[in-house]
Amino acid sequence: MMRAVVLTPSFGRHSDAPDRLAEDLGLTLERRTEGHPKSAADVVAAIGDAPAVIVGLDEISADVLAACPNLRVVAKHGVGVDNIDLGAAAAAGVSVVNTPGANAGAVADLTLGLILMGARRIREAEDSLRAGRWEVFLGTELSGKQLGILGFGRIGRAVADRARAFGMRICAYDPFVPAEVIEQAGARPADLDTVVATSDVLSLHLPGGDGVLLGAAQIDAMPRGAALVNAARGGLVDEHALAAALTTGRLAFAALDAFEVEPPPADHPLLGAPNLIATPHVGAFSDVANATMGTMVVEDVVRVLDGREPAHPVRPAR
Ligand SMILES: NC(=O)c1ccc[n+]([C@@H]2O[C@H](COP(=O)([O-])OP(=O)(O)OC[C@H]3O[C@@H](n4cnc5c(N)ncnc54)[C@H](O)[C@@H]3O)[C@@H](O)[C@H]2O)c1
Repeated sequence: MMRAVVLTPSFGRHSDAPDRLAEDLGLTLERRTEGHPKSAADVVAAIGDAPAVIVGLDEISADVLAACPNLRVVAKHGVGVDNIDLGAAAAAGVSVVNTPGANAGAVADLTLGLILMGARRIREAEDSLRAGRWEVFLGTELSGKQLGILGFGRIGRAVADRARAFGMRICAYDPFVPAEVIEQAGARPADLDTVVATSDVLSLHLPGGDGVLLGAAQIDAMPRGAALVNAARGGLVDEHALAAALTTGRLAFAALDAFEVEPPPADHPLLGAPNLIATPHVGAFSDVANATMGTMVVEDVVRVLDGREPAHPVRPAR
């Protein structure tokens, strides 16, 4: 009997397609989703002797892999694998799989929503109306403005497609995507410093786990009145420097769907900063993405447990 422990409550939450597929393919699912995301010790206890685990942001460290000798596959219900020790998994012979592209449309939709919310000051206007006032709020139009995209993968390109429909010019930095591929997608390739220094809106769409990409120096180099959107990973941005840039009014707004520590502590300087739009890491939460992520992990778990190659393996960087 094939079985997998499910640690993320998101699996099959908005669609029964993943559970139906698992049943059809003979995969028994055991849900242990309380206390998500789980610490390493809780993950070990939850996995027990299972050969497969479906995770969200749960910690899959080298210690977890060492403590779960029966484990054959870790399936990420999502894209970012910075919570999984890929090197330790490869060394232990454990496959890691994820769901590339499944949530690109969902995250791109949210990103455009965040940009529009900040540019047209939608929340301020609504708060004002609900407070019994009838005021006007001067916004910024997107048409003709430059959107700088850091990380031109699936989500970055989906954001570019949508932003072009709003008349934005797209400039992108991605050292791993050839310049001609960026150009074919209708964007202008540029180095990091150029994208940061020239974009009206800067949006992050690259993996986390490799430290801060936008530190105080980069935030200072953004044009006065620019905006920053981060629906990737909180650790990519120096949050204290960002809070300072909002407080001084250097940046028009910042919109974050990801924080270095999630949830951010109530006294976090960003939460008290003006013109911050914040959402609780909901980028991937759409009906379509939820169904697709769930079915993709079920398919790949079954492939690995069957002794076949997974369709979406994730391997450590060379
Ligand atoms: N908010 C959410 O709910 C949510 C959901 C899904 C993904 N994400 C985040 O979005 C990220 C991107 O997802 P994706 O599906 O587009 O992944 P992807 O792998 O398709 O694209 C990532 C791109 O980032 C590029 N990249 C890697 N390192 C870089 C660097 N140092 N500088 C610039 N570019 C770099 C890669 O070359 C790649 O093209 C994920 O890694 C994850 O952190 C967030």
